Amino acid sequence: MKTITFVGNGNMALSIAKGLKERYKIEVVGRNIQNLQKFEKELGVTIQKYSLENFDMSQKSIILCIKPANVEEVGTKLQGKAEVIYSVLAGTLIKKLRTHFATTAVIRTMPNLAASVGKSMTTLTGDDDYKEEAQLLFNAIGTTRWLGSEKEIDIATALAGSGPAYLALIAESLADGAVKQGLKRDDAMSIMRGLFDGFGTLIQETHPALLKDGVMSPGGTTAAGYCALEEGNVRSACVNAIEKAYKRATEL
Ligand SMILES: NC(=O)c1ccc[n+]([C@@H]2O[C@H](COP(=O)([O-])OP(=O)(O)OC[C@H]3O[C@@H](n4cnc5c(N)ncnc54)[C@H](OP(=O)(O)O)[C@@H]3O)[C@@H](O)[C@H]2O)c1
Repeated sequence: MKTITFVGNGNMALSIAKGLKERYKIEVVGRNIQNLQKFEKELGVTIQKYSLENFDMSQKSIILCIKPANVEEVGTKLQGKAEVIYSVLAGTLIKKLRTHFATTAVIRTMPNLAASVGKSMTTLTGDDDYKEEAQLLFNAIGTTRWLGSEKEIDIATALAGSGPAYLALIAESLADGAVKQGLKRDDAMSIMRGLFDGFGTLIQETHPALLKDGVMSPGGTTAAGYCALEEGNVRSACVNAIEKAYKRATEL
């Protein structure tokens, strides 16, 4: 079994490791032994745990899961030259990663939280020589899409990296609306989950505009609800959300 080495043991590392643990041997490098032990417990499989201080990453395949602000500090603590570094860091340029980490290849990746259930939408860009290997690795946690530039991955970060938070807001507010009209909370949550489940499959096959047309009959309930969303500028708010998140990615 090939070994994958995580540097960082936070939420994203755990989500990806959950998706990879059946197919890869997992090593985790962190600065705090209690957090590494907690990570192992939550992952539910035995992992190799290493201290960040002077960790030798020679010839390893590293998934870098720290925060963009920690790049300089973590870079000074690692020794050796990695074979490939897959960075999940939002907005952190390949040039900066190469400045702080010795490695043959760098791939920028943008998975999302659905990695923990094997359904991440992961975008990738970087060293073309590692394109196939990168896709194979990240296909183990969901779907991948290779992009041609770092600008595009910053835009994709705003869409699929942050997307679960946007959809969570929609999900919660639709359920709240149903509760406001008198539906029990449990029923509202259960119906909302079923809605997202079915929609997740439908949207794979049908253009969003056609889905909307298919459910909106003249003078009907959907037309009334849909127009209320347009009055609330939901469309424009979504377009703005992508713009703000993309701009933020370029500032990190
Ligand atoms: N969350 C998402 O949905 C998502 C999606 C796509 C990409 N990302 C990217 O994933 C990266 C990690 O996010 P996350 O949600 O996993 O964050 P997180 O849960 O806060 O984890 C951050 C990790 O970095 C370590 N760390 C923090 N400061 C450090 C330092 N000074 N030196 C060494 N290690 C340090 C933490 O170690 P300790 O455990 O010791 O504190 C922890 O292991 C971010 O760059 C983000 O852009 C996140």
